[in-house]
Amino acid sequence: MSEATTSTETTAGTFEPRIQAFVCNWCTYTGADLAGTSRIPMAPNVRIIRLPCTGRIDTLFILKAFERGADGVIVSGCHPNDCHYAAGNFHARRRFAVFRELIDFLGLDPDRITFSWVSASEGKKWSEIVNDTTERIRRMGPFSAYRGLAGRTP
Ligand code: FES
Repeated sequence: MSEATTSTETTAGTFEPRIQAFVCNWCTYTGADLAGTSRIPMAPNVRIIRLPCTGRIDTLFILKAFERGADGVIVSGCHPNDCHYAAGNFHARRRFAVFRELIDFLGLDPDRITFSWVSASEGKKWSEIVNDTTERIRRMGPFSAYRGLAGRTP
């Protein structure tokens, strides 16, 4: 991610959130592609990072996204029992269940993070997740507590 992922204030003074999505290649990425090729209207606020499987998504990726300027994060992959690596999404589900318990301790509002399952045929569902998440984060406002944290001196 580059510095370009920092949220922006438009000239009208309205806040446009930057949302980082981590998606698996086989289901959600294909679903997002379907939404695009079907020309389903979607907020342009989400940047996608494609990974082989949700089992590859380390929770540190989420914290790093916030550190790099994201205001919200989406994590999405194949539905349970549809993972192309058999159990990757079950590992991810367990990992994120533990992560949810740490969110308060980390000072993150859980509403800034969306976990979902989106299949390759669910372009409409992907667009709804993008639009709902963007609207929710827009109402919440910018998240700057983690921004640039790694570069700060104590
Ligand atoms: Fe999609 Fe594992 S391949 S979650």
